[in-house]
Amino acid sequence: MSEGDRVLVHGGGGGVGHVAIQLAKSLGAHVITTASAGKRAFVEGLGADEVVDYTKVDFAEAVHDIDLVLDTLGGDTAERSLDVLRPGGHLVTAVAEEDATLIAKFAAAGRRFSGIAVDPDPVALRGLAGLVERGELRVHVPETFPFERVADAHRRLESGHLRGKLVLTV
Ligand SMILES: NC(=O)c1ccc[n+]([C@@H]2O[C@H](COP(=O)([O-])OP(=O)(O)OC[C@H]3O[C@@H](n4cnc5c(N)ncnc54)[C@H](OP(=O)(O)O)[C@@H]3O)[C@@H](O)[C@H]2O)c1
Repeated sequence: MSEGDRVLVHGGGGGVGHVAIQLAKSLGAHVITTASAGKRAFVEGLGADEVVDYTKVDFAEAVHDIDLVLDTLGGDTAERSLDVLRPGGHLVTAVAEEDATLIAKFAAAGRRFSGIAVDPDPVALRGLAGLVERGELRVHVPETFPFERVADAHRRLESGHLRGKLVLTV
């Protein structure tokens, strides 16, 4: 990603999205994100330049000329994101990494589709720690659960409408 790139982060209020907004801003991107109305102030506070309330507006109609989409939803959202990418643009998904059909469909349209999976990476983690120390990255924790309540934590996660990340203490 280069400075000035237009980046679309899907689900910007969630665990992955709220970190992605801050990382994209720290690299100088213009960040657009989808979030429901209750999370507008939250994602703007993280640096989002534009917020699309996906419950009222179709992102595929409202957004265009995107260099990079970060997809945290998969399915229809991933597929329809093809329309918002500029030629040569790239969608990176956290949820549909192996979707050969979408990889081929994006390639045929002159765009790229690829997946990421979290791997322990000390060098990258040191970089993130540096951003935290400089105040350029913060992780929002709405709730902390003791290990005995792991099932409750999972139920909260499965709601699909979290703000930030839950913490489990062991
Ligand atoms: N590949 C990897 O290594 C990796 C790592 C971590 C997570 N993941 C995966 O990434 C996905 C996202 O994880 P997460 O922790 O960010 O989830 P999360 O914390 O539950 O957040 C999901 C967010 O999506 C928003 N949302 C729901 N429906 C939406 C829609 N139609 N359009 C736009 N936003 C919508 C919700 O906000 P509203 O309240 O605004 O609806 C919520 O903030 C999960 O499937 C997870 O398994 C993958």
